[in-house]
Parts: sequence; structure tokens; C-alpha cells
Amino acid sequence: MARASESGFAIEPVYGPGQPEGFDPARALGEPGAYPYTRGVYPTMYTGRPWTMRQYAGFGTAAESNARYRQLIAHGGSGLSVAFDLPTQMGHDSDAPLAHGEVGKVGVAIDSIDDMRLLFDGIPLESVSTSMTINAPAALLLLLYQLVAEEQGADPARLTGTVQNDVLKEYIARGTYIFPPGPSLRLTADIFRYCRAELPRWNTISISGYHMAEAGATPAQEVAFTLANGLAYVRAALDAGMAVDEFAPRLSFFFVARTTLLEEVAKFRAARRIWARTMRERFGARDPKSMTLRFHTQTAGVQLTAQQPEVNLVRVTVQALAAVLGGTQSLHTNAFDEAIALPTEKSARLALRTQQVLAHETDVTATVDPFAGSYAVESLTDKMERAVLALMDKVEEAGGAVAAIERGLQKRMIEESAYRIAQETDSGERVVVGVNRFQLDEEEPYEPLRVDPAIEAAQAERLARLRAERDGAEVDAALDELRRAAAGSDNVLYPMKRALAARATVGEVCDALREVWGRYVPAETL
Ligand code: 3HC
Repeated sequence: MARASESGFAIEPVYGPGQPEGFDPARALGEPGAYPYTRGVYPTMYTGRPWTMRQYAGFGTAAESNARYRQLIAHGGSGLSVAFDLPTQMGHDSDAPLAHGEVGKVGVAIDSIDDMRLLFDGIPLESVSTSMTINAPAALLLLLYQLVAEEQGADPARLTGTVQNDVLKEYIARGTYIFPPGPSLRLTADIFRYCRAELPRWNTISISGYHMAEAGATPAQEVAFTLANGLAYVRAALDAGMAVDEFAPRLSFFFVARTTLLEEVAKFRAARRIWARTMRERFGARDPKSMTLRFHTQTAGVQLTAQQPEVNLVRVTVQALAAVLGGTQSLHTNAFDEAIALPTEKSARLALRTQQVLAHETDVTATVDPFAGSYAVESLTDKMERAVLALMDKVEEAGGAVAAIERGLQKRMIEESAYRIAQETDSGERVVVGVNRFQLDEEEPYEPLRVDPAIEAAQAERLARLRAERDGAEVDAALDELRRAAAGSDNVLYPMKRALAARATVGEVCDALREVWGRYVPAETL
């Protein structure tokens, strides 16, 4: 029995017979690019500009990642997306004891402005949009990016890109947090204010549901907990004295695309409508850009299988189609071998080609919101909207996202859902082709890409050289100024930029902030 959808929603006619006299579906739905944006954030959507093909990439040294970015651009990628290694994401230098064994492994190692220069060597930052998947130290990587772009002669006001900068979901599902929620939200608001003044075209945050979905969240939980986190960021910025239309236009989002295509299309449409209504009716937003939920999508990594890995090409295609039919602004398609190891150049190219076939060989870009008025998708959209709003109310009743996080509410619900998925898979009720049905007796061998462990020593050597060459007194003075700002209420990004320009390292800057703000320790580990 095929699964109706992840949520098990039945699919009933919404705009079918029996509507009141003169019922007009188009009017009920609203137009693309118009409030409440159910049908898409731009009037023309892909008929005006295709989505950004933005492949998440990064591993090893800055030079190795630079080569991969140049390959992706050469193959037709239209946006960059930087993956950082765990030491960088956690604010530790490559030669820190905690970094041992992780340097360059799940992303690129960035310790200083020297590494950032290498990362973007030969890539004109004024003419490309770059996403950086960095959360707790997002301010540092943003400033390093700006410093390197300015060295290239770029005008900061023209720089476009995104920092993920979403620590709340790190407390819930991913774990790369550093500071407690209070200082983390202060840093997020400082980034909003800094970008409004210095980097007006930069997307200041990518409020993410992807990682919660990958941890087991249902589609409704994914959207509800993401939008609830969004409310917490909006409130933090308002509490910091900003007006809603000063920062809301540069908020962005990030969701998963699962293989259950119809429900995923409904999920994206419901999310846009809920966010638009929330921003206008609850926060009094007046700028239409404050009400549009612009989002990036990544196909579901957790649905890739190590068994018969080529079958993942089919899953990724269906998932990418769901994102496109759902109106994504930017898309990453997983490589078919990612359940085994880092993608090779060939599998990374094939992942990009998947998007290019959808954009240039199919007719899904010839119209806007093709499912508009569909019995199935409109009924699923309405059902999804109700389920999401009920869950958002639950979080609000718990005192909002931060209070709910501290009580473990979202984490517990996601774990329960993950357990249910595991049970359904084990019982065979949830079919995973090649895993619990249609298996091979003998799996064919596959040679994955491996990261050279020698990179850790190479990075440590670069750090030793950097510390020997730089003006230590200038770095110490800049770090002291940063500590004072962190202890006070000044925007920390300005002294942070001076420290980074003086070649302070990512670890040193984060250590200075740890001294003032402390480290977050989840309640359950106390
Ligand atoms: N009509 C008019 N204008 C249009 C248009 C249309 N049809 N289509 C696009 N445009 C304009 C937009 O207005 C925009 O102009 P602006 O910059 O002046 O506003 C420009 O063209 C670019 O369009 P978008 O902003 O829609 O597309 P981008 O790709 O630039 O931005 C985004 C998309 C979602 C807003 C942005 O935040 C983004 O790129 N996010 C990416 C996040 C990302 O890559 N995350 C990776 C996470 S991986 C991870 O977490 C780890 C792993 O474990 C999963």
C-alpha cells in the first residue's frame, strides 16, 4: 500500500463541486507574488528567473575547496554554498586539541583571513552570491568574507549571499552551538543591525527546518518549529530596538524536500501563507518583502541509501522536482553517493545536471505554481497549514521557541517521530527500495572520495606561521576591545572585524567571546 504522505493526510477535493455560487479559486488563492504568497514570492517566478543552483560544497583545505567551487561554476552552478569543517563551525582553530581528527573532514578548515583569501582566490565576490553554512561563529565568517571581498575591490553594499546564523535549530537538532541562547540571540540581532548598515543586500539568516527534518521531524513539525524559531529571531530584533521592516526583508529560510512530492509542494505553499499572515497581522509589517518567505531547499540526505546508490539519482530527481513545484528560490541536489562518503567531482556534477535537466529540458519553469487549484495539493496545503498552526500554538503555549527548547519540547517530538519512522521502516510498512524491498544479494563495490588526513598538520603549520608573522600586540588590543563590547551593549561586529583584519584567528575570537558569555550546556547534560 503506497504511503499517502509523510503525515498520512487523506487527499480530498477542496476546490471541487459544491463550492458556494460565484466561488473563485483564483481569488481564494491569491496571485503569485502577491499576499499571502501561497503561489510564490515573485509574480513571474521561474518564467522570470530560474531558481539558483547552489551546491553545498567544501572539504579539506581552502585551496581544495576553491578548486571545487571553480568546477561547480564552470559546470553551470549559479550560486556558491560553503561547507565548513566542525572545528570552524564550533569556533576552534585547526591546532586546538578539540579539533583533532576533524580538520577538513565535513567541510573546509578556515582559521583566519589568510584561509578565506585562498578559499575565494580567483572568484569575483561582487558578482556571485555565496551562502555560508555557519551558525555560532557566523559573524566572523561574514566579516572575513567582507574583508576579502573589499581586498578584491568589491563594494560591500553590493555583496549578496547568506549566513545560516540560526543557532536555535542547533540547540534542537544539529549541535554546533557555542554560547547560551541569550548571547546567541544578541549576536544574531547585532548581525541584523550590522548588515542593514554595511551589507544591505546580504541575507542575514537562513532559518532552517532541514536539520530538524533530517533528525526525523514530520513535514508539519519541520515548518512549525522553523517558523517558531523565526518568531524568536523577530522578537529578538524588535527587543534590540529595530523596526520590523528594517530587518525582516532579509530573513530567509531553508527546508528539506522529501520524496513524498505532493505533500512537500503543499508544505512549501502552506509555509509561505503562514509566514506572510504572521508578519503582517502579528508584527505589523508593511513592506511586502517583510512578508515573503524566500527559501533554499536541499533534497533529503536521510532518504539516500548506501545500498544500490545509483537509485538515489531517482530519489533526488523527485525531491528536486518537489522543491521546484513548491517554488524554491535556491536548490541543492544531493549527490547519489553521499550516503557513502563526500561526493566525487563526477557525482557532484551529476547532482547539478539533475537541476539543469529540470530547468532546461522540462516545462516546469514555463508557468507559476503549476499545482494551483489542484484538488490534491490545495487540500494538502490547507491540512498542512492547520497542522503547522496547531504545533506553533503548542510552542507559543510553552513560552516560545527558546523556552520550549530549554524544556526539550521540540527535541522530544522529533525523536518520537524519528522512532515511528524507524519502526515503519523495520516493519516494511515504509518501503525503502533496495533496503527493505527489492534488495540485491550482493552489493556492487563503490570507491568513495577520501580526505587526506595530512591536512591537519598542514593547517597547524599555517597557524604557527601566521602567529609568528602578525603584530601580536595589535591582535591582543583588538581582542580586548571585543571583550569590552561583548560585556557591554555595543555591536560586537565592529571590534570583531578589526581583530580579524589583524589576523586574529577564528578560535581566538570565539575564545574571547567564551570568556565573556560562557558556553551553552544543555540542561540534560548538567
Ligand atoms: N522576479 C523578480 N526578481 C527575481 C525573480 C523573479 N522571478 N527571481 C529572483 N529575483 C531576484 C530576487 O529579488 C533577488 O534580488 P535581490 O537580491 O535584490 O533581492 C535576486 O533575483 C536573487 O534571487 P533570490 O534572492 O530569490 O535567490 P538567491 O539564490 O540569491 O537567494 C535565498 C535565495 C533563499 C533568499 C538565500 O537566502 C539563499 O541563497 N539561501 C541559501 C542557503 C543555503 O545554501 N544553505 C545551505 C545549507 S546546507 C546545511 O545546512 C548543512 C547540511 O548539513 C545540510
